[in-house]
Amino acid sequence: MKSRPSDDSELHLGYFFPSGKTNFLYSDEAAQRTPDMTKANLVELAQAAERTGFDSLFIADNWSGHQRAAELGGHQAPAYHAPLLAMALLTATEHIGVISTFHTTHHKPAHVARMGATLDAFSNGRWGWNVVTGFSADESALFGEDFVEHDKRYHMAAEFTDIVFKLWSEIEPIDVEGEYYKVHGRIKMPRPVQQPNPLLVSAGASPAGAAFAAQFCDQLVTLASDEDALRAVDTRLAEATAATGRRVATCPFAIALVREEEGRAEEEWEQLRKSVNPAATKEIAADVLGSIESSRAQYESMGEEQATMAFGGAGSMLKLIGTPEQVAEKLISIKKNTAATNLLVNFPLWSPEELEGFAPVFAHLREAGVWTPPETRDYSW
Ligand SMILES: Cc1cc2nc3c(=O)[nH]c(=O)nc-3n(C[C@H](O)[C@H](O)[C@H](O)COP(=O)(O)O)c2cc1C
Repeated sequence: MKSRPSDDSELHLGYFFPSGKTNFLYSDEAAQRTPDMTKANLVELAQAAERTGFDSLFIADNWSGHQRAAELGGHQAPAYHAPLLAMALLTATEHIGVISTFHTTHHKPAHVARMGATLDAFSNGRWGWNVVTGFSADESALFGEDFVEHDKRYHMAAEFTDIVFKLWSEIEPIDVEGEYYKVHGRIKMPRPVQQPNPLLVSAGASPAGAAFAAQFCDQLVTLASDEDALRAVDTRLAEATAATGRRVATCPFAIALVREEEGRAEEEWEQLRKSVNPAATKEIAADVLGSIESSRAQYESMGEEQATMAFGGAGSMLKLIGTPEQVAEKLISIKKNTAATNLLVNFPLWSPEELEGFAPVFAHLREAGVWTPPETRDYSW
Protein backbone atom coordinates (compact mmCIF):
# COMPACT_ATOMS: atom_id res chain seq x y z
CA MET A 1 0.00 0.00 0.00
CA LYS A 2 1.25 3.46 -0.87
CA SER A 3 -0.36 6.69 0.33
CA ARG A 4 -0.24 9.98 -1.53
CA PRO A 5 2.22 12.53 -0.07
CA SER A 6 0.70 15.74 1.26
CA ASP A 7 3.86 17.89 1.23
CA ASP A 8 3.61 20.66 -1.37
CA SER A 9 6.71 22.64 -0.39
CA GLU A 10 8.59 21.37 -3.46
CA LEU A 11 8.23 21.44 -7.23
CA HIS A 12 7.84 18.15 -9.09
CA LEU A 13 8.36 17.96 -12.83
CA GLY A 14 6.66 15.55 -15.20
CA TYR A 15 8.00 14.77 -18.67
CA PHE A 16 5.51 14.94 -21.56
CA PHE A 17 6.50 11.72 -23.35
CA PRO A 18 6.48 12.06 -27.15
CA SER A 19 3.26 10.92 -28.76
CA GLY A 20 4.63 11.71 -32.19
CA LYS A 21 7.82 13.20 -33.58
CA THR A 22 6.45 16.66 -32.76
CA ASN A 23 3.96 17.68 -30.11
CA PHE A 24 2.54 21.20 -29.74
CA LEU A 25 5.25 22.84 -31.93
CA TYR A 26 4.47 21.40 -35.34
CA SER A 27 7.85 22.29 -36.87
CA ASP A 28 9.17 20.33 -39.87
CA GLU A 29 12.71 20.92 -38.66
CA ALA A 30 11.82 19.45 -35.26
CA ALA A 31 10.19 16.43 -36.95
CA GLN A 32 13.43 15.82 -38.86
CA ARG A 33 15.71 16.29 -35.87
CA THR A 34 13.84 14.10 -33.33
CA PRO A 35 14.73 10.38 -33.20
CA ASP A 36 12.65 7.64 -34.82
CA MET A 37 9.99 6.26 -32.51
CA THR A 38 11.54 2.83 -32.08
CA LYS A 39 11.47 0.65 -28.98
CA ALA A 40 15.20 1.25 -28.33
CA ASN A 41 14.90 5.05 -28.65
CA LEU A 42 11.79 5.34 -26.48
CA VAL A 43 13.10 3.07 -23.73
CA GLU A 44 16.37 5.05 -23.70
CA LEU A 45 14.36 8.27 -23.48
CA ALA A 46 12.30 7.06 -20.52
CA GLN A 47 15.48 5.97 -18.72
CA ALA A 48 17.10 9.35 -19.45
CA ALA A 49 14.04 11.16 -17.99
CA GLU A 50 14.31 9.03 -14.85
CA ARG A 51 18.07 9.69 -14.53
CA THR A 52 17.68 13.43 -15.09
CA GLY A 53 15.22 13.88 -12.22
CA PHE A 54 11.70 13.88 -13.66
CA ASP A 55 9.06 12.47 -11.34
CA SER A 56 6.83 11.04 -14.01
CA LEU A 57 6.18 10.44 -17.70
CA PHE A 58 2.87 11.58 -19.18
CA ILE A 59 1.51 9.72 -22.22
CA ALA A 60 -1.26 11.53 -24.11
CA ASP A 61 -3.49 9.58 -26.50
CA ASN A 62 -6.21 10.01 -29.11
CA TRP A 63 -7.89 7.34 -31.18
CA SER A 64 -8.55 9.04 -34.46
CA GLY A 65 -8.66 12.28 -36.48
CA HIS A 66 -8.37 12.90 -40.20
CA GLN A 67 -4.80 14.19 -39.96
CA ARG A 68 -3.16 12.98 -43.13
CA ALA A 69 -0.71 15.90 -43.71
CA ALA A 70 0.17 15.75 -40.02
CA GLU A 71 0.85 12.00 -40.16
CA LEU A 72 2.98 12.34 -43.28
CA GLY A 73 5.16 14.97 -41.61
CA GLY A 74 5.49 13.17 -38.25
CA HIS A 75 3.39 15.79 -36.45
CA GLN A 76 1.66 14.18 -33.46
CA ALA A 77 2.44 10.88 -35.22
CA PRO A 78 3.14 8.03 -34.94
CA ALA A 79 1.49 7.66 -31.52
CA TYR A 80 1.54 4.38 -29.61
CA HIS A 81 -1.55 3.45 -27.62
CA ALA A 82 -0.94 4.90 -24.14
CA PRO A 83 -1.63 1.98 -21.72
CA LEU A 84 0.44 -0.43 -23.79
CA LEU A 85 3.36 1.99 -24.02
CA ALA A 86 2.95 2.68 -20.27
CA MET A 87 3.46 -0.99 -19.38
CA ALA A 88 6.58 -1.13 -21.56
CA LEU A 89 8.05 1.99 -19.94
CA LEU A 90 7.18 0.87 -16.39
CA THR A 91 9.06 -2.35 -17.11
CA ALA A 92 12.12 -0.50 -18.42
CA THR A 93 12.42 1.91 -15.45
CA GLU A 94 12.86 1.69 -11.66
CA HIS A 95 11.05 4.50 -9.86
CA ILE A 96 9.63 7.06 -12.30
CA GLY A 97 5.81 7.32 -12.42
CA VAL A 98 3.97 6.72 -15.69
CA ILE A 99 0.69 8.53 -16.32
CA SER A 100 -1.29 7.16 -19.24
CA THR A 101 -4.45 8.38 -20.90
CA PHE A 102 -7.71 6.44 -20.85
CA HIS A 103 -10.90 7.83 -22.39
CA THR A 104 -14.07 7.61 -20.34
CA THR A 105 -16.19 7.96 -23.47
CA HIS A 106 -15.82 4.80 -25.66
CA HIS A 107 -14.62 2.47 -22.85
CA LYS A 108 -16.58 0.77 -20.08
CA PRO A 109 -15.61 1.32 -16.42
CA ALA A 110 -14.51 -2.31 -15.91
CA HIS A 111 -11.99 -2.00 -18.80
CA VAL A 112 -10.24 0.95 -17.18
CA ALA A 113 -10.51 -0.47 -13.65
CA ARG A 114 -8.90 -3.74 -14.68
CA MET A 115 -6.17 -2.23 -16.88
CA GLY A 116 -5.39 0.46 -14.31
CA ALA A 117 -5.22 -2.03 -11.43
CA THR A 118 -2.87 -4.20 -13.49
CA LEU A 119 -0.57 -1.26 -14.35
CA ASP A 120 -0.50 0.04 -10.77
CA ALA A 121 -0.06 -3.31 -9.00
CA PHE A 122 2.54 -4.57 -11.48
CA SER A 123 4.60 -1.38 -11.08
CA ASN A 124 4.15 -1.25 -7.28
CA GLY A 125 2.21 2.04 -7.34
CA ARG A 126 3.86 3.96 -10.16
CA TRP A 127 0.85 4.38 -12.49
CA GLY A 128 -1.41 7.40 -12.97
CA TRP A 129 -4.52 7.96 -15.09
CA ASN A 130 -4.94 11.00 -17.36
CA VAL A 131 -8.73 11.06 -17.51
CA VAL A 132 -10.05 12.39 -20.83
CA THR A 133 -13.55 12.47 -22.20
CA GLY A 134 -12.35 12.72 -25.83
CA PHE A 135 -13.26 15.75 -27.87
CA SER A 136 -13.54 14.39 -31.37
CA ALA A 137 -16.60 13.38 -33.40
CA ASP A 138 -14.21 11.20 -35.47
CA GLU A 139 -13.45 9.13 -32.38
CA SER A 140 -17.14 8.61 -31.67
CA ALA A 141 -17.73 7.58 -35.28
CA LEU A 142 -14.87 5.07 -35.01
CA PHE A 143 -16.73 3.39 -32.15
CA GLY A 144 -20.11 3.66 -33.91
CA GLU A 145 -21.35 6.14 -31.30
CA ASP A 146 -23.12 9.50 -31.52
CA PHE A 147 -20.92 12.44 -30.54
CA VAL A 148 -21.86 13.50 -27.00
CA GLU A 149 -21.93 17.24 -26.24
CA HIS A 150 -19.31 18.83 -23.96
CA ASP A 151 -20.93 19.06 -20.49
CA LYS A 152 -22.75 15.74 -20.83
CA ARG A 153 -19.37 14.08 -21.55
CA TYR A 154 -18.20 15.29 -18.11
CA HIS A 155 -21.41 14.02 -16.41
CA MET A 156 -20.79 10.64 -17.99
CA ALA A 157 -17.11 10.81 -16.96
CA ALA A 158 -18.09 11.50 -13.34
CA GLU A 159 -20.36 8.44 -13.18
CA PHE A 160 -17.71 6.38 -14.99
CA THR A 161 -14.89 7.41 -12.61
CA ASP A 162 -17.02 6.88 -9.52
CA ILE A 163 -17.63 3.29 -10.66
CA VAL A 164 -13.92 2.74 -11.40
CA PHE A 165 -13.10 3.92 -7.84
CA LYS A 166 -15.68 1.44 -6.45
CA LEU A 167 -14.29 -1.42 -8.53
CA TRP A 168 -10.80 -0.60 -7.21
CA SER A 169 -11.76 -0.31 -3.54
CA GLU A 170 -14.46 -2.97 -3.11
CA ILE A 171 -13.54 -6.62 -2.76
CA GLU A 172 -17.17 -7.80 -2.91
CA PRO A 173 -19.41 -7.37 -6.00
CA ILE A 174 -20.91 -3.92 -6.59
CA ASP A 175 -24.40 -3.14 -7.94
CA VAL A 176 -24.68 0.10 -9.90
CA GLU A 177 -27.69 1.05 -12.03
CA GLY A 178 -26.49 4.48 -13.13
CA GLU A 179 -27.82 6.96 -15.65
CA TYR A 180 -25.21 5.86 -18.20
CA TYR A 181 -23.58 2.66 -16.90
CA LYS A 182 -24.76 -0.57 -15.31
CA VAL A 183 -22.20 -2.63 -13.41
CA HIS A 184 -22.91 -5.78 -11.41
CA GLY A 185 -19.96 -7.68 -10.00
CA ARG A 186 -16.30 -7.30 -9.23
CA ILE A 187 -13.01 -7.32 -11.08
CA LYS A 188 -10.46 -10.05 -10.44
CA MET A 189 -7.51 -9.22 -8.20
CA PRO A 190 -5.14 -7.38 -8.10
CA ARG A 191 -6.28 -4.04 -6.69
CA PRO A 192 -4.15 -0.88 -7.08
CA VAL A 193 -1.23 -0.37 -4.69
CA GLN A 194 -1.74 3.41 -4.34
CA GLN A 195 -4.29 4.35 -1.71
CA PRO A 196 -7.00 5.52 -1.73
CA ASN A 197 -6.58 5.18 -5.51
CA PRO A 198 -3.93 5.70 -8.22
CA LEU A 199 -3.05 9.30 -9.11
CA LEU A 200 -5.70 10.95 -11.30
CA VAL A 201 -4.88 13.82 -13.64
CA SER A 202 -7.17 15.74 -15.98
CA ALA A 203 -6.67 18.69 -18.31
CA GLY A 204 -10.14 20.13 -18.84
CA ALA A 205 -10.24 23.71 -17.58
CA SER A 206 -13.82 24.64 -18.59
CA PRO A 207 -16.27 25.05 -15.67
CA ALA A 208 -17.45 21.45 -16.19
CA GLY A 209 -13.82 20.27 -16.52
CA ALA A 210 -12.72 22.08 -13.34
CA ALA A 211 -15.73 20.67 -11.43
CA PHE A 212 -14.72 17.16 -12.57
CA ALA A 213 -11.11 17.72 -11.43
CA ALA A 214 -12.32 19.05 -8.07
CA GLN A 215 -14.36 15.90 -7.53
CA PHE A 216 -11.90 13.21 -8.63
CA CYS A 217 -8.39 14.41 -9.56
CA ASP A 218 -5.06 15.11 -7.88
CA GLN A 219 -3.66 17.37 -10.60
CA LEU A 220 -5.19 19.65 -13.23
CA VAL A 221 -2.86 20.13 -16.21
CA THR A 222 -3.46 23.57 -17.54
CA LEU A 223 -2.57 25.74 -20.51
CA ALA A 224 -1.45 29.12 -19.13
CA SER A 225 1.34 31.12 -20.74
CA ASP A 226 2.27 33.28 -17.72
CA GLU A 227 1.82 33.65 -13.95
CA ASP A 228 -1.29 35.85 -14.29
CA ALA A 229 -3.03 33.23 -16.41
CA LEU A 230 -1.94 30.56 -13.94
CA ARG A 231 -3.33 32.46 -10.97
CA ALA A 232 -6.66 32.75 -12.80
CA VAL A 233 -6.75 28.94 -13.08
CA ASP A 234 -5.73 28.63 -9.40
CA THR A 235 -8.69 30.83 -8.45
CA ARG A 236 -11.17 28.86 -10.56
CA LEU A 237 -9.86 25.60 -9.14
CA ALA A 238 -9.96 26.92 -5.55
CA GLU A 239 -13.64 27.82 -6.07
CA ALA A 240 -14.36 24.34 -7.41
CA THR A 241 -12.45 22.54 -4.64
CA ALA A 242 -14.12 24.68 -1.93
CA ALA A 243 -17.27 22.72 -2.77
CA THR A 244 -15.61 19.29 -2.63
CA GLY A 245 -12.79 19.71 -0.11
CA ARG A 246 -10.37 17.90 -2.40
CA ARG A 247 -6.72 18.95 -2.74
CA VAL A 248 -5.97 19.42 -6.46
CA ALA A 249 -2.63 20.77 -7.68
CA THR A 250 -2.48 23.11 -10.65
CA CYS A 251 0.01 21.71 -13.14
CA PRO A 252 1.10 24.15 -15.88
CA PHE A 253 1.96 22.67 -19.26
CA ALA A 254 5.33 24.03 -20.43
CA ILE A 255 7.61 23.71 -23.45
CA ALA A 256 11.37 23.68 -22.85
CA LEU A 257 14.45 24.56 -24.85
CA VAL A 258 17.54 25.02 -22.66
CA ARG A 259 21.00 26.05 -23.87
CA GLU A 260 24.07 27.03 -21.81
CA GLU A 261 24.98 29.99 -24.03
CA GLU A 262 22.91 33.12 -23.36
CA GLY A 263 20.45 33.91 -26.20
CA ARG A 264 21.08 30.58 -28.00
CA ALA A 265 17.83 28.88 -26.88
CA GLU A 266 15.71 31.87 -28.03
CA GLU A 267 17.50 31.84 -31.41
CA GLU A 268 16.90 28.13 -31.89
CA TRP A 269 13.26 28.49 -30.84
CA GLU A 270 12.65 31.22 -33.44
CA GLN A 271 14.33 29.04 -36.06
CA LEU A 272 12.00 26.12 -35.20
CA ARG A 273 8.95 28.37 -35.35
CA LYS A 274 9.85 29.38 -38.92
CA SER A 275 9.35 25.80 -40.06
CA VAL A 276 5.90 25.25 -38.49
CA ASN A 277 4.00 23.16 -41.04
CA PRO A 278 0.79 25.05 -41.97
CA ALA A 279 -1.13 22.10 -43.46
CA ALA A 280 -0.41 19.80 -40.50
CA THR A 281 -1.15 22.56 -38.00
CA LYS A 282 -4.47 23.34 -39.68
CA GLU A 283 -5.54 19.71 -39.43
CA ILE A 284 -4.64 19.40 -35.77
CA ALA A 285 -6.06 22.85 -34.90
CA ALA A 286 -9.33 21.98 -36.64
CA ASP A 287 -9.75 19.04 -34.25
CA VAL A 288 -8.70 20.92 -31.16
CA LEU A 289 -9.94 24.49 -31.68
CA GLY A 290 -13.28 23.24 -32.95
CA SER A 291 -13.92 21.13 -29.88
CA ILE A 292 -11.97 22.36 -26.86
CA GLU A 293 -13.55 25.33 -25.13
CA SER A 294 -10.45 26.49 -23.25
CA SER A 295 -8.23 26.44 -26.36
CA ARG A 296 -10.88 28.16 -28.48
CA ALA A 297 -11.23 30.96 -25.92
CA GLN A 298 -7.50 31.67 -26.07
CA TYR A 299 -7.56 32.29 -29.83
CA GLU A 300 -10.98 33.93 -30.14
CA SER A 301 -9.70 37.44 -30.81
CA MET A 302 -7.50 36.28 -33.74
CA GLY A 303 -8.38 35.57 -37.35
CA GLU A 304 -8.47 31.90 -38.40
CA GLU A 305 -5.04 31.92 -40.09
CA GLN A 306 -3.33 33.75 -37.23
CA ALA A 307 -5.00 31.52 -34.61
CA THR A 308 -3.88 28.38 -36.43
CA MET A 309 -0.24 29.46 -36.65
CA ALA A 310 -0.21 30.69 -33.01
CA PHE A 311 -1.60 27.29 -31.99
CA GLY A 312 1.05 25.46 -34.07
CA GLY A 313 3.79 27.52 -32.42
CA ALA A 314 2.83 26.44 -28.87
CA GLY A 315 1.08 29.81 -28.39
CA SER A 316 -0.75 28.98 -25.18
CA MET A 317 2.03 27.14 -23.37
CA LEU A 318 4.38 28.33 -20.65
CA LYS A 319 7.84 28.82 -22.23
CA LEU A 320 10.96 27.52 -20.48
CA ILE A 321 13.39 28.90 -23.04
CA GLY A 322 16.82 30.17 -22.00
CA THR A 323 19.88 29.20 -19.98
CA PRO A 324 19.50 26.68 -17.13
CA GLU A 325 19.72 29.54 -14.64
CA GLN A 326 17.01 31.61 -16.38
CA VAL A 327 14.68 28.62 -16.61
CA ALA A 328 15.27 27.71 -12.95
CA GLU A 329 14.52 31.32 -11.91
CA LYS A 330 11.24 31.21 -13.82
CA LEU A 331 10.29 27.95 -12.11
CA ILE A 332 11.20 29.26 -8.66
CA SER A 333 9.08 32.36 -9.30
CA ILE A 334 6.12 30.17 -10.35
CA LYS A 335 6.49 28.15 -7.16
CA LYS A 336 6.55 31.36 -5.11
CA ASN A 337 3.73 33.24 -6.83
CA THR A 338 1.20 30.57 -7.83
CA ALA A 339 -0.31 27.40 -6.37
CA ALA A 340 1.57 25.17 -8.86
CA THR A 341 3.44 22.26 -7.33
CA ASN A 342 3.85 20.18 -10.47
CA LEU A 343 4.79 21.13 -14.03
CA LEU A 344 4.43 19.05 -17.16
CA VAL A 345 7.33 19.73 -19.54
CA ASN A 346 7.39 19.05 -23.27
CA PHE A 347 10.64 19.19 -25.29
CA PRO A 348 10.17 20.14 -28.97
CA LEU A 349 13.54 18.50 -29.83
CA TRP A 350 13.07 15.50 -27.57
CA SER A 351 16.06 13.16 -27.15
CA PRO A 352 18.14 11.80 -24.23
CA GLU A 353 20.69 14.59 -24.88
CA GLU A 354 18.01 17.30 -24.53
CA LEU A 355 17.01 15.79 -21.18
CA GLU A 356 20.63 15.72 -20.03
CA GLY A 357 20.86 19.40 -21.02
CA PHE A 358 17.99 20.07 -18.60
CA ALA A 359 19.85 18.47 -15.63
CA PRO A 360 21.49 21.80 -14.54
CA VAL A 361 17.97 23.25 -14.06
CA PHE A 362 17.29 20.59 -11.41
CA ALA A 363 20.65 21.42 -9.77
CA HIS A 364 19.61 25.10 -9.48
CA LEU A 365 16.19 24.12 -8.08
CA ARG A 366 17.87 21.91 -5.49
CA GLU A 367 20.19 24.73 -4.45
CA ALA A 368 17.13 26.97 -4.02
CA GLY A 369 15.55 24.33 -1.73
CA VAL A 370 12.50 23.60 -3.92
CA TRP A 371 13.47 20.22 -5.34
CA THR A 372 14.85 16.86 -4.15
CA PRO A 373 15.71 13.91 -6.41
CA PRO A 374 12.70 11.59 -6.87
CA GLU A 375 14.71 8.47 -6.01
CA THR A 376 15.09 9.79 -2.45
CA ARG A 377 11.28 9.70 -2.05
CA ASP A 378 8.91 6.73 -2.08
CA TYR A 379 6.42 8.21 -4.52
CA SER A 380 6.41 9.37 -8.11
CA TRP A 381 4.39 12.60 -8.08
C1 LIG B 1 -1.54 18.93 -21.68
C2 LIG B 1 -2.83 18.38 -22.21
C3 LIG B 1 -2.89 17.04 -22.55
C4 LIG B 1 -4.07 16.50 -23.04
N1 LIG B 1 -4.09 15.19 -23.40
C5 LIG B 1 -5.20 14.69 -23.98
C6 LIG B 1 -5.21 13.37 -24.47
O1 LIG B 1 -4.23 12.66 -24.36
N2 LIG B 1 -6.33 12.90 -25.06
C7 LIG B 1 -7.47 13.66 -25.18
O2 LIG B 1 -8.46 13.17 -25.71
N3 LIG B 1 -7.49 14.93 -24.71
C8 LIG B 1 -6.39 15.46 -24.15
N4 LIG B 1 -6.38 16.76 -23.73
C9 LIG B 1 -7.64 17.52 -23.80
C10 LIG B 1 -8.33 17.56 -22.44
O3 LIG B 1 -8.58 16.29 -21.93
C11 LIG B 1 -9.66 18.32 -22.54
O4 LIG B 1 -10.54 17.67 -23.42
C12 LIG B 1 -9.41 19.70 -23.05
O5 LIG B 1 -8.39 20.34 -22.31
C13 LIG B 1 -10.68 20.52 -23.05
O6 LIG B 1 -11.30 20.55 -21.84
P1 LIG B 1 -12.30 21.68 -21.47
O7 LIG B 1 -13.27 21.81 -22.60
O8 LIG B 1 -12.92 21.23 -20.18
O9 LIG B 1 -11.48 22.94 -21.29
C14 LIG B 1 -5.22 17.32 -23.22
C15 LIG B 1 -5.14 18.68 -22.87
C16 LIG B 1 -3.97 19.22 -22.38
C17 LIG B 1 -3.93 20.68 -22.03
